[in-house]
Amino acid sequence: MNELANRVLADCQVIAGMTEEPSRITRRFLTTPVHAVHAYLRARMEALGMQVRVDALGNLRGRWQPAKATEKALLLGSHIDTVPDAGAYDGVLGVALALAWIELAQDLSVNFPMEVVAFSEEEGVRFSVPFLGSRAVAGSFDPALLERKDESGKTLASAIRSFGLAPELWPEAAIEPAKYMAFVEIHMEQGPVLEAEDLPLSAVSAIVGQGRLTLCFTGQANHAGTTPMALRHDALGAAAEWIVQVESLAQRTEALVATVGRILVDPNAGNVVPGSVTASLDLRHADDSVRGACLKTLLDSAAHAAALRKVQLQVEVQMDQPAVAMDSAWTARIVAAMEATGFPARTMTSGAGHDAMILAQALPTTMLFLRTPSGISHHPTETVRAQDVEAALAVGRAFLLGLHGEIQRQGSLDSRRLLA
Ligand code: GLV
Ligand code: MN
Ligand code: MN
Repeated sequence: MNELANRVLADCQVIAGMTEEPSRITRRFLTTPVHAVHAYLRARMEALGMQVRVDALGNLRGRWQPAKATEKALLLGSHIDTVPDAGAYDGVLGVALALAWIELAQDLSVNFPMEVVAFSEEEGVRFSVPFLGSRAVAGSFDPALLERKDESGKTLASAIRSFGLAPELWPEAAIEPAKYMAFVEIHMEQGPVLEAEDLPLSAVSAIVGQGRLTLCFTGQANHAGTTPMALRHDALGAAAEWIVQVESLAQRTEALVATVGRILVDPNAGNVVPGSVTASLDLRHADDSVRGACLKTLLDSAAHAAALRKVQLQVEVQMDQPAVAMDSAWTARIVAAMEATGFPARTMTSGAGHDAMILAQALPTTMLFLRTPSGISHHPTETVRAQDVEAALAVGRAFLLGLHGEIQRQGSLDSRRLLA
């Protein structure tokens, strides 16, 4: 394995040890181990001669400024938060590879500045709303989110303050889009497609749209022995009927994926009719109109399952993120770099959400995927092959060199005219 690939994998392994739970990788937004990740990445960035800062949402940002360069920078990045009991690579691999691309750019003496963002929050685990870090960077952060509470009742503003940052400075996290050429996120595929095709890499053409909702079924907790079936208001009965309908609709609808990944039952006791159930819904499809129609069907079936039992239903929408196309010119640059390096010109759609969905609102954006062995992600057995990391470095080198050449051919250091 080459030295740089070795360093990328070592970065991921070191950061995997920075966790809320000793025996597994869990690193939610702005929790204590994030300080350690920041300290580690800050040291890595400073050793590369980058200027480093942490913005009000806890995104760690480093900038490398070559001596003679265009005004517009290339922005790279991915996230450092994880799902509970995660693997070591979802998000962190993209940050480690971005630092390696900085090293490549320095070796090549490229003629444009580069920035790396380690986004603080992408998974939506702590506040049930994803992309908090990238929304702030893209300039689409809604300050009402600062009052949102986590499970312990702590608001986002207070979590930011406890971490040592000033929530009121959130507007300063936003980039000025005119100062950047593009955003590129390197990430693992998190699915089985490249593995099945025996390909190490793919460019990304689009990211599917996703909805995330919480449904609260409120019935009446009561004695399990004395309450006849006809007189119950069983919240779990309603939720369970609905959950099976969610699975069944997704099985019947081409390319729809639908997941109820979390339920909370109250009082959760064997001899009590369940009084209330809170259930999550994650719904994804590449075609927003199909996703919209399916969501309506599922909300109707939830209402029906609740009404049958005289159970109340409340629905909260946490996210309704349309499908996002990647920028075709920048995707073509990634594809050209893959071909120049001897890899097939594969592009694919991402079923997972990424910070790139949010950055695409502000900048031309694209992604590079690495194969995920066994297609397993959001799981501790998630892994990556060293040879695929080497491939991502080879493609990075060709991409950076190609961009440098394009800028030089335009014969000007006035980046406002470049790559328009
Ligand atoms: C992010 O990991 C997602 O759930 O797509
Ligand atoms: Mn993830
Ligand atoms: Mn991710």
